[in-house]
Amino acid sequence: MRKQLTVGSLLPSRPALQTANPVPAFKEPVPQTQTAFTRSTAPVRPEKTEHKHVQIKQKGQSFTVQYAPCQTLLAAALKQGQNLAYKCQQGSCGKCSVQVLEGDFLLDAPKSQEQATLDKKLASGYRLACQSIFRSTRRI
Ligand code: FES
Repeated sequence: MRKQLTVGSLLPSRPALQTANPVPAFKEPVPQTQTAFTRSTAPVRPEKTEHKHVQIKQKGQSFTVQYAPCQTLLAAALKQGQNLAYKCQQGSCGKCSVQVLEGDFLLDAPKSQEQATLDKKLASGYRLACQSIFRSTRRI
């Protein structure tokens, strides 16, 4: 006997038709693998700028100058109320000479004016406050 197909025979309450290759109703979700764009769980490297100050000594007196990007050490010290000795502000008299005790990485490398005025004192950590410039934030 042949079964006759009608619209009602295709409703879910009725037994499904037998097919040669039945398709499963649901597939298991494929687990996602870790991609290159996932965040690293590695600890964050401590910033070098945690000690944002330069410790200097001039004529036996110690001073602490807070980091001030792109300013000279002298300008920053004077703005912060430090009473540093200075005169020409051109890098030629040497009156603003200071010994950097801590935080020298916050300053740019000595330029030719400082090298000419300080000569061998540079190797002992001396700098001219009027010529030493704090590094910009990008270079620390
Ligand atoms: S004030 Fe003269 S060298 Fe700095």
